[in-house]
Amino acid sequence: MDVRDAKGGIGISKSGLMFLAEQLRLYPAEVYEVATTYPSTKFVSPTPAVEKAATDLDSEWRVAPAKSASFFGGLVDGSNGSTPPRSLADYRESGGYEILHILKSDPTAADDLMQKVAALNLKGRAGAGFPVARKWKQAKRSAGTPVVVVNGNEGELGVFKDRFILENEPHAIIEAALVVAHVTGADHVFIYLQDEYKFAQSIFAKAVAETMQAGLAETVTLDLRRSGGAYICGEETTLIASLEGRAGRPTERPPYPSEMGYKGRPTIVHNVETFFRLRRAWGAQSDVEIPVSRLLDPNTSLFSVTGRVRNPGPKLMSNLLRLVDLLDLAGGLSRGVELGGMVVGGSCGTLISAVDCERPLPDLVQNGLTLGTGGVFVFSSKDDRRAIAFEMAAFAARESCGKCGPCRIGSKKAMETLVSNGPLDTVLIDELSTVMAEASLCGLGRNAGRFLKTLPSYFGDPQP
Ligand SMILES: Cc1cc2nc3c(=O)[nH]c(=O)nc-3n(C[C@H](O)[C@H](O)[C@H](O)COP(=O)(O)O)c2cc1C
Ligand code: SF4
Repeated sequence: MDVRDAKGGIGISKSGLMFLAEQLRLYPAEVYEVATTYPSTKFVSPTPAVEKAATDLDSEWRVAPAKSASFFGGLVDGSNGSTPPRSLADYRESGGYEILHILKSDPTAADDLMQKVAALNLKGRAGAGFPVARKWKQAKRSAGTPVVVVNGNEGELGVFKDRFILENEPHAIIEAALVVAHVTGADHVFIYLQDEYKFAQSIFAKAVAETMQAGLAETVTLDLRRSGGAYICGEETTLIASLEGRAGRPTERPPYPSEMGYKGRPTIVHNVETFFRLRRAWGAQSDVEIPVSRLLDPNTSLFSVTGRVRNPGPKLMSNLLRLVDLLDLAGGLSRGVELGGMVVGGSCGTLISAVDCERPLPDLVQNGLTLGTGGVFVFSSKDDRRAIAFEMAAFAARESCGKCGPCRIGSKKAMETLVSNGPLDTVLIDELSTVMAEASLCGLGRNAGRFLKTLPSYFGDPQP
């Protein structure tokens, strides 16, 4: 339902909401509850023309743009400076969609591919590193026809690695999703894109239409969806809730989505980068013309580098030995800047001191550091570390869906503790972090707890 106010703002009016409730046979409070879990939904005062439009069932529901990520930086929409996305013709010329053809014509090929993926020990790239083949097997074993979801919600501040892939290689993602559908017997593929990724959305709208016109997805429904602007909607059970039109809040696991997900069907949710890397399983090679294709090398990682560097952006790196080595790729530190440290793993990641950035990465990983979503925010020795920690706690507090107390209350309390000017209450921070890490329902609260755990030791250092 497209609803505009007198200034042209897009959102939903009170009467539009009442109308939806009536049509859906729900209480207005239920519709209001669902709508308010999505930050993109804006409530507007309608013009008379809008009131009329609100009664037109065929018009499309549209929502206003969500807030923009700030502090940690990011890319301006459609400005990654790379080459235009590969067209369907180019993609097919370099062997694209051939594997689908083979799968359709050779009944043994699907099992072979499944075995190859298992042998390659491909792990999901969303951060947790769950084995890909195990998820597929779970889905095949479970009751019902599977569903495949490309998770392109990418909502952490300063993280844009998936966007880099989406804007460069739409057909690689579509083909990989269709291949997963074929191998697991799925008949529906959702491509779920972040609300703010307008450029990627337009690229995918075209690429999906081209794929369908070319008859490459005859047995599978390709369904392009735009998220509602909430970071939590990247969490798989929340993503599924939003696809079903429910409020954007996680549900407890088990059952895991690969056993029982979208409308009770087994649902395979993978990160965009996972789909891209899957192409290695059928022999797709790195192509010098397409920078993102270097990801087909398992030793290459993709980082989103922002902050006090001369050349921020997506950076492909093979065999990263120390975090400081990323600085060279980003053109070095900005002029006159001395390294203060890095936030690694995005806005839900970990603060690392300048000294630790020089240490061998395996040592840090052994002590519990995870690179997570590959976000790296570089800060200077003059930047206020406490303000950075505050921004991270504020992100968790803002994005918390409020379903469970440890995260809803703990993240706000942590924010308040960090904003005060006095000495850091390390005992309170430690208690909050334990409760959040151990008692939160989903990864948002648990990760925020883990990040808080590292703070007391970090702020034990003298402030610059
Ligand atoms: C708060 C939260 C946000 C998440 N956001 C994303 C996201 O934007 N993209 C993503 O691929 N996975 C995200 N995940 C992880 C998903 O739940 C899921 O594990 C992932 O899509 C699986 O992908 P993989 O198998 O490729 O690793 C998030 C998890 C949590 C707890
Ligand atoms: S941990 Fe936070 S985001 Fe996750 S369910 Fe609980 S309140 Fe919601």
